[in-house]
Parts: sequence; structure tokens; C-alpha cells
Amino acid sequence: MPLIGFGAWKVPNATCADTIYNAIKAGYRLIDGAEDYGNEKECGEGVRRAIADGIIKREEIFITSKLWNTFHQKDHAVELAKRSLADWGLEYFDLFLIHFPIAQKYVDPAERYPPGLLTDVEKGIIEFENVPIAETWAALESLVDAGLVKNIGISNFNAGLVRDLLTVARIRPSVLQIEHHPYLTQSALVDYIQAQGIAITGYSTFGPQSFLEMGQERAQNTPLVLQHETVNAIATAHGRSPAQVILRWATQRNIAVIPKSNNVDRLKQNLDSASFDLTEEELKQISALNINLRFNDPNDWPGKIPIF
Ligand SMILES: NC(=O)c1ccc[n+]([C@@H]2O[C@H](COP(=O)([O-])OP(=O)(O)OC[C@H]3O[C@@H](n4cnc5c(N)ncnc54)[C@H](OP(=O)(O)O)[C@@H]3O)[C@@H](O)[C@H]2O)c1
Repeated sequence: MPLIGFGAWKVPNATCADTIYNAIKAGYRLIDGAEDYGNEKECGEGVRRAIADGIIKREEIFITSKLWNTFHQKDHAVELAKRSLADWGLEYFDLFLIHFPIAQKYVDPAERYPPGLLTDVEKGIIEFENVPIAETWAALESLVDAGLVKNIGISNFNAGLVRDLLTVARIRPSVLQIEHHPYLTQSALVDYIQAQGIAITGYSTFGPQSFLEMGQERAQNTPLVLQHETVNAIATAHGRSPAQVILRWATQRNIAVIPKSNNVDRLKQNLDSASFDLTEEELKQISALNINLRFNDPNDWPGKIPIF
């Protein structure tokens, strides 16, 4: 799996196919998508156009998708993975993740797809379904057996849940995807997972930046990582942008990143973030910014779901 990929959350449907195509043209070889992002058709269009134009072959690009919370029941998980593949127009995913360790009540895709957070939109509530993670994992294993998925993994799992999953997994998770940025370093989790030989992908590497787009109050009240004086000083010392410094801080510690940008220049800049090295001292200075501040927290969802 490449250490730098392109994240597709909040890439608008109207521009998504072109953005993905341009990302691949610029050199990205990993696209991180999900059923929940509502743009898998357009992501697939961009990838297939790049293949048709001879920029890449299918085997040269790493495609990730994620199973949404309403599809944890075994048959639904398999059915929805197939639907995602059909949306992308691909024969297999390189990686398929359980998006959250939260089994929500099934919403029929014929009724609404992707269903979003709420299972009952009128009442504004989330309802649950009694599906153990072991059942969902077995469904993902069956996708590997069927050749529809090359690797399977998890996202937003804490160490206890991963430990439990490892006791039942016939096929071990390849990747754990977590929120990871200078304000939320999760060092104990990262150490445990890496010691297990499981790769870590960090998302929302720029911290509050992504959540400003959503008008999140916590993000609005948090000083931007990209403007932090420590990050700025290191960026100036290396003649790099703050974004590149933060991405390198992650990748140099073997944490893969999947920055999203709707801007071609920033998208290129992010990809070009591994061509310099930070010193051990600089890595430590950035890690020391940790304040255990989470922006993507199910405890903020309707009904409050504490999972961390
Ligand atoms: N598993 C999960 O639950 C989960 C949750 C969240 C995200 N993810 C994945 O992780 C990916 C990345 O996370 P994210 O989208 O939340 O956040 P992100 O990549 O950390 O940040 C995106 C924000 O930073 C801006 N930006 C991008 N490059 C920049 C640069 N070089 N300089 C300044 N600003 C820059 C973007 O604006 P512009 O677009 O205007 O450049 C956007 O506002 C997602 O797209 C998704 O694939 C997964």
C-alpha cells in the first residue's frame, strides 16, 4: 500500500471524476473511498478514465472502500461490497474496511443510498442492530475468499476491539485507519497496532481543517494545525509548506496518509511531501502538540455513541 494516497471524502460529485483523474495523473496510486461518501460512481469514472488513457493499469493503483454502519449483517455486507464494486466499475478492491465498529439498523439501498448517519431521518435518530463484529469480519473474509477484495481492515477501532477481533480473525486485518494529526497522536494505539504488524493509515492529518468545511464548532474554536508556530518554524527551516511538514511527520513514522484536496496545486503539493526528511527532534516537537482532541467522534452524533 502506498504511504500517500488521495482521500475522497467531501469531493463533490460534480467534480469528483475529474479530481480523481487529475490525482492519478499527478502520480497518486492510492484512492481512499467509502460507500458513505456518496461519490463512488464518480471515483470509479476517474479511475477507469485514467486506465483507458493508459496512465495506469488496474494493478498499479490501490483502491480502498469501506462498509457503512447499516450493512454489518453478513448478507448485507457482502451485497453492499458488490454494489460498491459495481459503482466503481471494478472487479476487486485492494482494501475493504469496516468504517466504524457500530452496527446500525439496516436501511434498504432502494429506499436511500448512501443512507447517511440517521436510520430514521424524520425522527432524527440512529438505531442499532445486534450484529457482532465477528459476523461482519467473517463477511469480509468471504469477500477475500471470493477474490472480490485483496485485503481487509478496520477503521475507528480502539485497541481493545482490535485485540478481540484478532482472537476470531481467520484472515488478519491488514490496516487500521484512524483519525491522526498533531492534536490527536494516539501513540499507545499506534505502537500496539504497528507491533501487531498491522499498517496504520491516518486520516484528517490536518486536524481541524477538514471539519471547518462542515462548520463544526470544535474545529472553529481550535487553532489551525496548518498555522501552528511550531509547524510553521519547521516548514520555514525546510522551505516546505506546513501541510507537507505534517504529512511527512506521519509518513516518516510509517503512518500512511490520505489527504484530500479539491485543488490541483495542493493535491500535487501533498503528494510531494515525502521528498525531504524531518529530524528526530522535529518529529518529537510535532508529536508534543498532542492534546487528545478528536474531531470525528461518534459521541457527537445524535444519541451520542461513545466508542473511544
Ligand atoms: N475512516 C474514517 O472514518 C475517515 C474519516 C475522515 C476522513 N477519512 C478519509 O481521510 C481523507 C482525509 O481526511 P479529511 O478529508 O478529513 O482531511 P484532510 O485531508 O486532513 O484535510 C482536508 C482539508 O485540508 C485542506 N487542504 C488539503 N491540502 C492542503 C494543503 N496542502 N494546504 C492547505 N490546506 C489543504 C482541504 O481543502 P481543499 O480541498 O480546498 O484543498 C480540506 O479543507 C478523507 O478524504 C477520507 O478519504 C476517513
